[in-house]
Amino acid sequence: MAFLSDTLARVKPSQTIAVTNKARELAATGRDVIGLGAGEPDFDTPQNIKDAAKRAIDEGRTKYTAVDGIPELKKAICAKFKRENGLDYTPAQVSVGTGGKQILYNALMATLNPGDEVIIPAPYWVSYPDMVLLAGGTPVPVAAGIETGFKLTPAQLEAAITPKTKWFIFNSPSNPTGAGYTRDELKALTDVLMRHPQVWIMSDDMYEHLVFDDFEFTSPAQVEPGLYDRTLTCNGVSKAYAMTGWRIGYCAGPVELIKAMGTIQSQSTSNPCSVSQYAALEGLTGPQDFLATNRALFQRRRDLVVGMLNEAKGIVCPNPEGAFYVYPDISACIGKTSAGGATISDDEAFATALLEETGVAVVFGAAFGLSPNFRISYATSDEQLREACARIQSFCAGLS
Ligand SMILES: Cc1ncc(COP(=O)(O)O)c(C=O)c1O
Repeated sequence: MAFLSDTLARVKPSQTIAVTNKARELAATGRDVIGLGAGEPDFDTPQNIKDAAKRAIDEGRTKYTAVDGIPELKKAICAKFKRENGLDYTPAQVSVGTGGKQILYNALMATLNPGDEVIIPAPYWVSYPDMVLLAGGTPVPVAAGIETGFKLTPAQLEAAITPKTKWFIFNSPSNPTGAGYTRDELKALTDVLMRHPQVWIMSDDMYEHLVFDDFEFTSPAQVEPGLYDRTLTCNGVSKAYAMTGWRIGYCAGPVELIKAMGTIQSQSTSNPCSVSQYAALEGLTGPQDFLATNRALFQRRRDLVVGMLNEAKGIVCPNPEGAFYVYPDISACIGKTSAGGATISDDEAFATALLEETGVAVVFGAAFGLSPNFRISYATSDEQLREACARIQSFCAGLS
């Protein structure tokens, strides 16, 4: 009898975490490493949120809570959906979990049966396909390349839908490309979905607040109210409120689904951390002005990185609408040899040689299902970004 489960054979560990660990190991040996792999803001959680957490501890809010969230937080989440997205939800339609990740996982676990298909535009956040596999479903990646700004077209969506399609996972602005769908682009997709009533929509709005220039964020149930009854609108405090370590994510959708997700959570982790829930409550109900400050900061960094990468030989870097990632194309670098003698056979070889020869850690495109590219997370200081991009430029100049 095998000790490890067959389920484990279907999934692989997160490549983004692997790159971060490799960069950490190299740095520990004294190498000058700039890590651009991790997907989290580089600044601290706002003070009012930390204070609310301290208060919660002092007031003894340290016991089990309702499995899928304290009533005050659920109420605040309903108010957020109304205020920011024009969506009406009641607390019974809301679930709070241990990070956005657990929310998505619960929803897939609660709904997927063997043979059920889940459409995932590629490049995708690394965890989507593996979570689908863990839940027993079949991921159906659909390549949305640089020629469409990394956005799925309505024709592609239509062609990917089969009678077995249960979910369409939609993520805008996207990890790893930063691509954001305009209202019209999203409406064209929801028009397709309206014709296929068996398909549910999982909208991962994690980067909602990180949008640039005059881009207007919209979510599927908001753009097409006809999809409200089969949309799970997912979000969280991790990225917008610099709260990655607190582990609070949430969603809203039809009561039957929310109840089923609660059942999964009740038999796995129970409630998300009580103190973190009070911190998230302060995040959602306290002052929101730092969101605009952070947006401006990230926009400046995006401009810096996109500008410098497009000056690198063999790199084409589109200008993303949001998030804190860029996903440059390196087709022109493939097949070349680095100054250090490495053959750049694919994007993984590019990322490995870049790390070994320049100390810059990026995540290769194959991890996100679309190559040849790499992802940079620009959630780090301007100085580090300038230095990293200069090293990438000289690495590319050395390719022959
Ligand atoms: C697109 C996307 N969705 C969800 C998550 C999960 O966020 P959390 O840290 O709240 O679990 C991430 C985190 O990287 C993400 O990039």
